[in-house]
Amino acid sequence: MKSQWSPSSWRSKPAKHLPIYKDQNQLTNALEEIKKFPPLVFAGEARSLKSKLANVSNGKAFLLQGGDCAESFVDFHPDNIKNSFKVILQMAVVLTFGASCPIVKVGRIAGQFAKPRSSDKETVDGIELESYKGDIINGIEFTKEDRIPDPKRLIQAYNQSASTLNLLRAFSQGGYANLNKIHQWNINFVEEENANKFIEIADRIDECLAFMKACGINGDNVRQIYETEFFTSHEALLLDYEEALTRIDSTSGKWYDVSAHMLWVGDRTRQLDGAHIEFVRGIENPIGIKVGPTSDPDELLKILDIVNSDNEPGKVTLICRMGADKIDSHLPNIIKKVHTEGKAVVWACDPMHGNTIKSKTGFKTRPVNNIFSEIQKFFAIHKTLGTYPGGVHLEMTGADVTECMGGLQQITEEDLKNRYHTFCDPRLNASQSLEIAFLISEYLKDEKFLSLKSSQI
Ligand code: PEP
Ligand code: CO
Repeated sequence: MKSQWSPSSWRSKPAKHLPIYKDQNQLTNALEEIKKFPPLVFAGEARSLKSKLANVSNGKAFLLQGGDCAESFVDFHPDNIKNSFKVILQMAVVLTFGASCPIVKVGRIAGQFAKPRSSDKETVDGIELESYKGDIINGIEFTKEDRIPDPKRLIQAYNQSASTLNLLRAFSQGGYANLNKIHQWNINFVEEENANKFIEIADRIDECLAFMKACGINGDNVRQIYETEFFTSHEALLLDYEEALTRIDSTSGKWYDVSAHMLWVGDRTRQLDGAHIEFVRGIENPIGIKVGPTSDPDELLKILDIVNSDNEPGKVTLICRMGADKIDSHLPNIIKKVHTEGKAVVWACDPMHGNTIKSKTGFKTRPVNNIFSEIQKFFAIHKTLGTYPGGVHLEMTGADVTECMGGLQQITEEDLKNRYHTFCDPRLNASQSLEIAFLISEYLKDEKFLSLKSSQI
């Protein structure tokens, strides 16, 4: 029998990567305030996402999850939100053309603020301070004041998430995502080859819409054409915050974390007996679990038993982040075990976190070729095993940054310094993101993928 769960039962378990707040009173006050704030998302929306992810796990849809590694307070600007949203829309159109199936769009946005760090401390010129842990916890400036975890940041993160979500809802449902406006989603710095390929698709969509109109079907009244569904997600790392936003849904009487539609547990905090798994096992939201090269398949099976005891399709997405050099030796065994046990999961590929290197010029970066290679291997492994490669999870932005090397723009080690803006890990820029979408669309057109899609139960 399951042991008793409550939104605070994680507190009795060992927790990694949580900050220590000096002023506990300030923390309690901030959390009490957040407990009274309105939900950011509704339980019904999280249920709707779960049913769409169930379609993914059954091979009838494909998941596109992406956004910033870490959102920040200073980069909070409507243009940044709009540009990221635009790229995701563009990518989704490209993928829809490839897969001929619905693309489930989930942003790493409106709450992706807390970061696990490889080291708790950072030393610069002999001075040691607490590492930057994301804007919801402390500041990025290398000063003593900034690096002290500050509970007021929890409130600011909530407020920024609320405004971001408000704009995303307006963009998705207020006409911006209307397929009739597809030509307006262009991003001016996208490399010409991809920009042209996208325009070709946009022209074909225009033709389809004109044809439908000629047949008397007015696209303006068809919901799927004039609006889109866009969901939010973030890593459920800062459990104080997540607990404060966990509520009972009046319709179902069940617990939902209303800070985002989907929450995931990171590769560093997925211990079977740890606080993070304890927290997510009691909430009804769709849950992601990062699966890295140190994942033990038997432990993973136990985690699945705990987090998804009813084996509900759509409940768990396994976000695999092995690295291009490790995926072949690690992933097949994991897939086989999970499959043999009959576990219903969505298999997603995060080709970012296992491919981070330091450039000779001193930047944390990711070569686009390695990102491509991990995606390609992910599809090949599933093809061999007869399992369904259900989605991708990307760190990306709509801005013209130079953080990942390579791609059609041929960003070199020397170029990285030009527009290196990330607060944490290097992101694909809009041009590189679109390139990845075109690459994936080729795999999605693969006959075997299409047959897997239709043969999954
Ligand atoms: C992340 O998604 O930003 C992250 C920290 O990933 P992982 O837990 O896979 O290292
Ligand atoms: Co990251």
